[in-house]
Amino acid sequence: MVDESGKKPVERPVGFAKGLTNYGDREFSVYLRRSFASSMGYSREMLDRPIVGIAHSASGFNNCHRHFPELIDAVKRGVLAAGGLPIEFPTISLGETFLTPTSLKFRNLMSMDVEEMTRAQPMDSVVLLGGCDKTVPAQLMGAASADIPAIQLVAGPMSTSRHRGERLGACTDCRRFWARFRAREIDAQEIEVVERRLASTAGTCAVMGTASTMAIIAETLGMMPANSAACPAVDADRLRIAEETGRVAFDLIGKPIRPSEIITEKSVENALRVLLAIGGSTNAVIHLTAIAGRLGHKVDLNRLNALSETTPVLVNLKPTGEHYMEDLYAAGGVPAILREIRHLLHLECRMVTGETLGDRLDNVTWVDESVVRPFAQPVRETGGLVALFGNLAPRGAILKRSAADPRLFEAEGRAVVFDSLEDLANRIDSDDLDVTADDFLVLRNAGPTSDSAMPEAGYLPIPGKLARAGVKDMVRMSDARMSGTAYGTIVLHITPDAASGGPLGLVRNGDRIRLSVANHSLELLVADEEMKRRAAALPARPASRAKRGYAKLYEREVLQADEGCDFQFLK
Ligand code: FES
Repeated sequence: MVDESGKKPVERPVGFAKGLTNYGDREFSVYLRRSFASSMGYSREMLDRPIVGIAHSASGFNNCHRHFPELIDAVKRGVLAAGGLPIEFPTISLGETFLTPTSLKFRNLMSMDVEEMTRAQPMDSVVLLGGCDKTVPAQLMGAASADIPAIQLVAGPMSTSRHRGERLGACTDCRRFWARFRAREIDAQEIEVVERRLASTAGTCAVMGTASTMAIIAETLGMMPANSAACPAVDADRLRIAEETGRVAFDLIGKPIRPSEIITEKSVENALRVLLAIGGSTNAVIHLTAIAGRLGHKVDLNRLNALSETTPVLVNLKPTGEHYMEDLYAAGGVPAILREIRHLLHLECRMVTGETLGDRLDNVTWVDESVVRPFAQPVRETGGLVALFGNLAPRGAILKRSAADPRLFEAEGRAVVFDSLEDLANRIDSDDLDVTADDFLVLRNAGPTSDSAMPEAGYLPIPGKLARAGVKDMVRMSDARMSGTAYGTIVLHITPDAASGGPLGLVRNGDRIRLSVANHSLELLVADEEMKRRAAALPARPASRAKRGYAKLYEREVLQADEGCDFQFLK
């Protein structure tokens, strides 16, 4: 067969015939690969099909992914029905509560695994199956770098359970009950019962935490089918979504719809809009920055502030509101949210399923307005997040204002400084701690370049004696992160971090700090000359603390929060 120019088109190898192991003889390589693949029982017809890889992160150390075998089966069904050969393969899994010092440290490692294995193994497109907080960002980062046709499938959120008539869902309620236990409102026996009830199904955290936020962002970017982010893990619809994902993954083969066509400057801005409208996790700013950065797009925190002024919070979910993710799905899911902010979105953005975002939103017919509020009657007038700048955070910091107490938005306080996580743990509940509810708690050496690698420790507990006196919130700040399920007036991601020599390391007990959400500012009220004197007196940082292996690579390459904590050499 010749084309109009009279040339015979070059036939691209597909399936097992592509990306060959190099033995110096192409035909021999195909023959040998087929021979070994045949040992898995495939017929010749199957061996000749295009391959849809299924990169999944199931693991015994990841409770959120325990239903993945069933989801993988459903994806395979979709691929087979469409005419492809589905082949699953495991990658690193990042179970949020099972990793030390914190899962963020290994997100980039997982992204490298996804990138290299989708590129090195013979597949024509890939389904990325993840869910728990860092897995979806890692998969999208890897897919963006590999840039082979890819589609995201997520675990889906957990369903809620009950305790003494109250609905319980990980993990806003985890913190609520723990705060009650610390304040001695409930006893050890009751907290043990709650512990068993908080996470009682497969799936990701049941509120608008990081996993839910990243699933919604992935759908908004266009990397997932419509209305696939919020569907509960245990709902039969989740299996139908998986089957559809398999079909779409097959359809992607040979089309120019790659991650680089979908994740663009405009779709990233759409994702920022939705992040603000859902009162989403602060972690998502870091992850979206890293994902976009892999394709050369920058997430500018000044732009985030501009968008935040014109994007109201519309979703009434914990920790900002009262409902859970399963309620969002019943209310119309992500398309319902996007429809309300339609006039703010770039509707021409292309989706992995082939249509535009505008096409998708034309199909939304019903919305439960108690969960997804109309644009004119929002939960909050402005967006959920705001970036702060000042001499304490020259490259920015983040506050989730939708989960904070507005009475503390314009405040000045005395710094009570904790030098490390150990220092915090040792002193926070001491009756001798010199602290009042008007003080600002400051934690440092918990940023990306610290030994603790930026854990979710920014949700500093209210000092024991204040908690017992009924204090529920106070201004807290750090270079750490915070779980998306947490709440409080908490400034996070102060950049540059203290361990890299940032000004947070110069704060002393008793200094005054001024926070102004209206002015987007965070200022240490100490004269420049004094700041310079303190900086000159800081002890020199040891050249290297990591001895070998991945820790060494992390230490050498990790970037600050405003660059997504990606590795320099992966950008
Ligand atoms: Fe996996 Fe919360 S622990 S999503």
